[in-house]
Amino acid sequence: MPHIKLINIVGARPQIIKASAISRAIRENYSKDITEIIVHTGQHYDKEMSQIFFDELEINKPHYNLGVGSARHGRQTSLMITGIEDVLLKEKPDCVLLYGDTNSTLAGALAASKLHFPVIHIEAGLRSFNKTMPEELNRIMSDHSSTLLFAPTNAAFKNLMGEGFRPENSPPYTIDNPKIYLTGDIMYDNTLFFAGLAEKKKTTFLEQLSLARNNYILVTIHRDTNTDDIVRLKEIFVTLNTLAEEKDIMLVMPLHPRTIVALKTRLKSFYDELNHFKHVKIIPPVSYLEMILLEKNCRMIVTDSGGVQKESHFFKKPCIVLRKETEWIELVKNGTAKLVDADPDRIRNEFFSFMDLHSDLEYPAFYGDGKTAEFILNEILLMFEKE
Ligand code: UD1
Ligand code: UDP
Repeated sequence: MPHIKLINIVGARPQIIKASAISRAIRENYSKDITEIIVHTGQHYDKEMSQIFFDELEINKPHYNLGVGSARHGRQTSLMITGIEDVLLKEKPDCVLLYGDTNSTLAGALAASKLHFPVIHIEAGLRSFNKTMPEELNRIMSDHSSTLLFAPTNAAFKNLMGEGFRPENSPPYTIDNPKIYLTGDIMYDNTLFFAGLAEKKKTTFLEQLSLARNNYILVTIHRDTNTDDIVRLKEIFVTLNTLAEEKDIMLVMPLHPRTIVALKTRLKSFYDELNHFKHVKIIPPVSYLEMILLEKNCRMIVTDSGGVQKESHFFKKPCIVLRKETEWIELVKNGTAKLVDADPDRIRNEFFSFMDLHSDLEYPAFYGDGKTAEFILNEILLMFEKE
């Protein structure tokens, strides 16, 4: 088996968490075969959006941090492309591994594919069919720059076939003859690995927040469609607060910095009020182990996050999705996640129906067997063996 050098590109919070599944599998089973080099674009940079995950999830320190930071899409993505290109020319890796759909993903895909380094995309094929989302453009362009594409769900795999990717392609794989795989989801690997650890390491976390098990609702909001429209954003908070008051249940909200910036700069006096609402607890972003505890012990989740939607399923919690559409369509078909856009009436209906639910919901195993990272690494090695 040839030894390969793999560049792992991360930048946003969920990518750092996802990379931990791959880093762990390399450390445990493939350290003789794979040298991993981590490149952090610096898209997320606050301690609680970045460093905390490297420390807590035992990921190697990034070999390169491009320090790009926040900016408009074009500037941010172009700075990342420039920085990644320099690293690729210096390191000359065998392949470049990308996660998800952020600007860091797109920058990695463009820089690597134009230099003819094979791109490997984890979370390939997800589609919202809404090209006004920056993430949808990032997904499509990253997938079409890739050589190996790992689709986490049946729906994602079918989407790739719908765009002309052919499962029957045979080696050698290239950008013009790519290989698509149906895998599970590496975030399910992480949940299985870290859930027990979270209970052990964070024994007093819920008490510190004065939260009683099964008696609070976890809320996260960060999508641009929600944060950039302040009328919509305010309406979401007002609606949720009214419902929480009616049911006398706490809303705990670890808010993304994007949402805090929107509240502080564009809804200042409402933000001051919000901090005094009896049923609302706004807290800074939490660590992944803390997030797992919040998810595992809540009554229900309300979110616009992709990752948190799936984690609601891993922890068997009903989920209200503050979006018009989702890439994780199996959750909606299963009836355990409900799309409500930001419509107060729809939020209210789904909130009450989940709160008053008396029969158990079913949570089938949509996301693999918890060994997806190993499967992916094995296939990557096979590609080089066959060359
Ligand atoms: C990005 C991804 C989104 C993903 C999310 C995960 C894109 C286009 N979007 O959105 O798909 O769901 O990450 O969290 O790549 N900020 C800070 N500190 C930080 C990071 C961000 O204050 O450490 C603030 C800045 O005001 C910044 C804003 O958040 O302008 C948005 O950050 P950005 O990385 O551009 O996009 P996200 O909304 O985080
Ligand atoms: N997460 C976290 N702390 C938080 C909020 C989220 O560790 O305060 C984790 C969450 O458990 C999930 C991932 O971050 O694994 C989701 O990231 P995010 O919601 O930022 O982005 P998305 O998944 O929508 O791209």
